[in-house]
Amino acid sequence: MIPVVDVNIREKEVEAVIEVVKSRYLAEGKFARAFEGKFSEFTGAKHVVTAVNGTCSLHMAITALDIGPKDEVITTPFTFIASSNVIFFNGAIPIFADIDPETYNIDPEKLEEKITNKTKAIMPVHIFGNPCDMKAIQDIAEDYDLKIIEDCAQAHDATIDGKHMGNFGDLGCFSFYGTKNLVSGEGGAVICNDETIYEKLKSIKNHGRNPAGGYSHYRIGYNYRITDMAAAILCVQIDRANEIMSRRHRNGKLYRNLLGEIEDLRIQKILPGHQHSDYIMAPVLLNEKKKPKEVIEYLKSKGVSSRTIYESLSYEQESYKDLSTWHMSRVINYPDYSKVSCPNSEYTARNHFEIPMVSTLTDENIQYITQTLKEFLK
Ligand SMILES: Cc1ncc(COP(=O)(O)O)c(C=O)c1O
Repeated sequence: MIPVVDVNIREKEVEAVIEVVKSRYLAEGKFARAFEGKFSEFTGAKHVVTAVNGTCSLHMAITALDIGPKDEVITTPFTFIASSNVIFFNGAIPIFADIDPETYNIDPEKLEEKITNKTKAIMPVHIFGNPCDMKAIQDIAEDYDLKIIEDCAQAHDATIDGKHMGNFGDLGCFSFYGTKNLVSGEGGAVICNDETIYEKLKSIKNHGRNPAGGYSHYRIGYNYRITDMAAAILCVQIDRANEIMSRRHRNGKLYRNLLGEIEDLRIQKILPGHQHSDYIMAPVLLNEKKKPKEVIEYLKSKGVSSRTIYESLSYEQESYKDLSTWHMSRVINYPDYSKVSCPNSEYTARNHFEIPMVSTLTDENIQYITQTLKEFLK
């Protein structure tokens, strides 16, 4: 079976973990600092702050921008739930704007319609690794004086005109979860180019500790520190990034050429000058004749793993429709999420399916997968 996800780990990563364990210094230390330097070079961002995972990196970002109770943050509902959950963490309110059906990313026009005098920030999510229309989003943010937090969890090596994602907003947040392009099991990082935000991030992730160390704390914070085992894996992964990513980009290009020939199938539109991270390939069926479930079953019968990902949008989750178990609902009036409607997101959620996009995929695998799809959909 051709797997839908895999982990590109070699002996070097294993050796790196052994080195840390043998050193007996397992907590965040020199490998975390080394990775921050390497990731700064990789993304071109001035500052990098590691975190225990992508969710915590988003939470650190929101906190560093002073987003708090009753502030509204506009984001997409077609994403992993972490994107909007972190908005709840600070008592802020997620507001959902529909996506552009062609890019699967937040539609700048729909986003602008959602702005109120409570809006404090925009959280574009580069879904599946496709860069959002950042020029339009930056213009809106400037016009309405809003902050931008880029959710780059899926956007390793995604760029616009050669500039890495995460450098277009105030902050960019990454995940190195076990299935991402670059992995450490759990892991995350925030990138930014502002010194003040950088200092805040470092203290937020470490209980507001005085940067000199010790047990004096000057703000309320969290423990979002990464372990040096995870950071050591990341040091190797980033050194191997070119090898890992060039294969993915090659696969993405071949897929797009071949899938583009199949009628009634939509693949993500990539805007001019944008480079996709080639993290996930998830076509959308435009013809109601076939359902994703049938396609997935057929592919499986032919030895190809396939699945749907976000078949429920964030606002459709039980956790959002009934907020009675969320303690902040005692003091904050949230919108009735059961009344939210984003038709393009709903169509995309109901009609997409994910196909293998692993770095070990060969040209022959891709030809076989696309040919199998072609035969089934004709
Ligand atoms: C779009 C998106 N945002 C946020 C996250 C959260 O990252 P993590 O799982 O590392 O907490 C993920 C990852 O899984 C994601 O895909």
